[in-house]
Amino acid sequence: MSDKTLTISHLSAGYKNREIIHGLSLPPLEAGTITAVIGPNGAGKTTLLRALGGLLPGRGEVLYGGRNLLLCKPAERAHLVTYMPQTLPQGVVLTVIEAVITALRAAPGNDVETEAALHAQADAALEHLGIGQLALSGIDELSGGQRQLVSLAQSIVRLPKILLLDEPTSALDPHHQLSVMGAVRDHVRSREAIAIIVLHDLNLALQWADNAMLLKDGILMAAGRPNEAVTANSLADAYGVAARVEHCSQGRPHILFDGLL
Ligand SMILES: Nc1ncnc2c1ncn2[C@@H]1O[C@H](COP(=O)(O)OP(=O)(O)OP(=O)(O)O)[C@@H](O)[C@H]1O
Ligand SMILES: [Mg+2]
Repeated sequence: MSDKTLTISHLSAGYKNREIIHGLSLPPLEAGTITAVIGPNGAGKTTLLRALGGLLPGRGEVLYGGRNLLLCKPAERAHLVTYMPQTLPQGVVLTVIEAVITALRAAPGNDVETEAALHAQADAALEHLGIGQLALSGIDELSGGQRQLVSLAQSIVRLPKILLLDEPTSALDPHHQLSVMGAVRDHVRSREAIAIIVLHDLNLALQWADNAMLLKDGILMAAGRPNEAVTANSLADAYGVAARVEHCSQGRPHILFDGLL
């Protein structure tokens, strides 16, 4: 198995006195791929990402490069993994470019030596996401979607091997949804990295993800290629909805929701 594969085995995680993720095991996630985490509200998606990012204690194994990430020192993990939270912090008084430079500076082992080089790298990350024009705006003056894009820039600029994104497109218009998913795909392919992305938009998951895992009550209900994991039956079981997977005129699968079950 490749050194750049991520393997999650028997992972359990949760909060004080309350286990949320129960012994989750998945087929290995390959370098260069995007995995969508889907499932109803309260299923444990954020809890899973936080455990993978080292923000919550977890038991089991999360193997990458011969190491169990659950046992790594924080600095070692921070070298490999970045995590974009579902809820963005409030009250940040930095400008956009300062926030991205701060993220870059905090990256352990970053070898960018001069202020000018840091600035250039941060600028490039903003341009890549199509928000270069926001560089000098204050974070607190941004719209919800703009803040989400800046938060993503902070994650990607550190060139992580494992990119954990919790609903990164939930506030974005269609143009920015596509540019974000494209930027994530570019990142994982060019850096042989792995992205694990929580998405409620199942059509985005079908279109962009290489794998999908469907969680409910902290248990894996389905995993595999998105069109294997996302079916009328699995959506009925997980969400209690009547859904159809139709194919559009270009042959791509598309989900339609008909009602509640
Ligand atoms: N800090 C916490 N302390 C205790 N329980 C928590 C905490 N955060 C979340 N939970 C519980 O863990 C369960 C899973 O929550 P989680 O945030 O992982 O769900 P989610 O799948 O991300 O949902 P959503 O789609 O609404 O974001 C929920 O029952 C929630 O009440
Ligand atoms: Mg969540």
